[in-house]
Amino acid sequence: MQSEFTMPKVELHLHLEGAAPPALIQQMAHEKKVDIKGIFDQNGHYVFRDFTHFLAVYEAATSVLTQPLDFYRLTRAVLEQSASHGVIYTEAFLSPDFCGQAELGPWREYLSAIQEAAADAEKSFGIVMKGIVTCIRHFGPQKAKKASLCAAETAGDFICGFGMGGAETFGVQSDYLYGFDMAREAGLRITTHAGEWGGPESVRQAVFDLNAERLGHGVQVAEDPHLVDELIARDITLEVCPGSNVALKIYPDIRSHPIAKLRDRGVKVTVSTDDPPFFHTDMTKEYAALSHAFGWGKEDFSSLNKTAIKAAFCDTATKDTIIKRLDAE
Ligand code: HPA
Ligand code: ZN
Repeated sequence: MQSEFTMPKVELHLHLEGAAPPALIQQMAHEKKVDIKGIFDQNGHYVFRDFTHFLAVYEAATSVLTQPLDFYRLTRAVLEQSASHGVIYTEAFLSPDFCGQAELGPWREYLSAIQEAAADAEKSFGIVMKGIVTCIRHFGPQKAKKASLCAAETAGDFICGFGMGGAETFGVQSDYLYGFDMAREAGLRITTHAGEWGGPESVRQAVFDLNAERLGHGVQVAEDPHLVDELIARDITLEVCPGSNVALKIYPDIRSHPIAKLRDRGVKVTVSTDDPPFFHTDMTKEYAALSHAFGWGKEDFSSLNKTAIKAAFCDTATKDTIIKRLDAE
């Protein structure tokens, strides 16, 4: 019988580059004779002081990803890792900004390498991946428009959503409305990082100004009970990443994290890793920490995975297949 740690899992919030195994990035740096030693500690782990520094280290790591083949290798490695933790369905954030400066021509080439790797990984490891194109907030609204054009032009079976990551306190969500509307018109589903750093106000903007269906993190909504009710009324699902929040010191420890309170109040919560090697986490560790802190067991995680697949942005045929696999275990 499967335990709560080995059971099949659904993950909705994973930054592809943020999931890059440090050894792979070091190998690519070596191959390209790029010196990025400063972003690693003596044990070869990514090292950073705070969120702003994390974003800088993140961007330095991605600087070695310079061609579609690099993204093929990255995607395969990431999916192999995820699958080893029981993930059977993952929605990965893909950033055109790191794939040929958000130009449409190069983006198509990078995307096709990512898709090829996803198809190979599905055959080898049984994991299904879909892509959510993300713009990067602190790169500004002009770059975001280019990312949303890439998203709109490649919307389909594989690219099923559009979102925004990066520094949440940079500008306001509605500065990016044009890009979100363009993506929505192309049939893409909408999520945005909100309530990780920007408090309830950022969540309010994401809900009322952008009309987001899901929120990346969203956890700071716990500070505003009326807004919590609004999330419940609108059936908004949170992509919660507890290990990331604790690693970045948004909460001092897992017991202080609001995920359990939000869930008890009736908010739809799901569990993801965000940028696993940066935050020394993986899905097995997330489940173990939640089980330890809140006494969650197999039934709780099973219902969490059902919530996640219902909130997934993929087509219904894919959802049905994944639900069957969840039910079979
Ligand atoms: N938060 C916001 N933006 C990000 C993150 C994150 O944890 N990881 C990669 N981009
Ligand atoms: Zn994130």
